Amino acid sequence: MRTLIDRIGQLLVVPAGPVRGPDMDRVPVLRDAALVIEGERIAWFGERADTPGGEYEHRIDAQGGAVLPGFVDCHTHLVFAGAREGEFVQRIRGKSYIEILEAGGGIHVTVEAVRAASEEQLLAGALARLRRMLALGTTTAEVKSGYGLRPEDELKMLRVARRLRGMQAVELVGTYLAAHTIPKEYAGRADEYLDAMLADSILETLYSGDLAEFADVFCERGAFDLAQAERFLTECGRHGLRAKLHADQITNTGATKLGVRLGAVSVDHLEEADESAIAALAGSETIPVLLPGCTYFLNGKPPAARRMIEAGLPVALATDCNPGSSMIESMPLIISIACTRLRMTPMEAIVAATANAAAAIGRANRIGAIAVGHQADLLILDRPSADFIAYETGRNPVRMVIKRGRAAWTA
Ligand code: NIG
Ligand code: FE
Repeated sequence: MRTLIDRIGQLLVVPAGPVRGPDMDRVPVLRDAALVIEGERIAWFGERADTPGGEYEHRIDAQGGAVLPGFVDCHTHLVFAGAREGEFVQRIRGKSYIEILEAGGGIHVTVEAVRAASEEQLLAGALARLRRMLALGTTTAEVKSGYGLRPEDELKMLRVARRLRGMQAVELVGTYLAAHTIPKEYAGRADEYLDAMLADSILETLYSGDLAEFADVFCERGAFDLAQAERFLTECGRHGLRAKLHADQITNTGATKLGVRLGAVSVDHLEEADESAIAALAGSETIPVLLPGCTYFLNGKPPAARRMIEAGLPVALATDCNPGSSMIESMPLIISIACTRLRMTPMEAIVAATANAAAAIGRANRIGAIAVGHQADLLILDRPSADFIAYETGRNPVRMVIKRGRAAWTA
């Protein structure tokens, strides 16, 4: 099947990730452009006047709108049950995220709800969220476990994510986050808990059952320390799961540097990452994933995005969609917060949400770019420039979402 997207006002020619430092702001923009899709892939793009002739089974009129790669939401906890709006209000009244967690609330509340939920209930909740995310331009999402904290419940969460792949258009990637927090029944016995969650039988099922590609750990005061994080990720690595970390979010634990040393594919959060962490990242292939939804939602300190870009890092962005620290499904909103609070330019934020986010889930050679041969995962906006994504905060600028060469959502 051959499809022509015609009358593109601005085509953002985002290169394949990782796009590093100042290059993030140097993306070529083609005006009055067209793009040809063959099957699932981008076959040609250029100025309209040069559009290749021949038969097109489909013609899509972009009506002067901007076209860019679909968003890759490379860090989400989108399979969950229940809600935590009460904590949200408690924080406005002055309580901190970590105080609520240490008092037995926070993640533990969602763990109880997920353990009590059936697979069907989790599926219905996540499917509804994914439909809204697709409409907001997300064409690929990473999905973490981490609210089961028992073998059967962690596997239940990841089975839900696997079933969702066949039910809707957003491509999903699973991550085993058993080391999210120490469950109450193991209080004071973190190492015994990790032993239980690192059983060969579980790790083999994850990899061979196509349930997870990555392993993740919340390395933080009150969660797992550096030695525990290293043990968890190393054991998972022996079974084929590549490393990710929730690193230097609330306190500076040194987790970013641990991630670099372990060759992690990404280190995520980094609100408290210092200059030495940035220097370690600069000499590595590890992608720094920033989550401005937490800055907004927890009214916290923004990560040092400008310093990271100056240091030449390939910064990525994601929603961190979860009921505790970022109840946000919208990549356009994340891009807007990245611009206003992290001082990224709209172009840097778009590159971070596409090419670099694809690199953060090991898929930069197939998705996240406007390049011949890349998968045709594209957004057509109803505005002439992609700056509107950041500028019109809270409004959805997406007119059409194309996934694997086919229209997956239309306004
Ligand atoms: O990425 N920081 C740890 N994990 C999540 C929040 C999970 C929750 O509060 O339910 C995060 O912020
Ligand atoms: Fe997270």
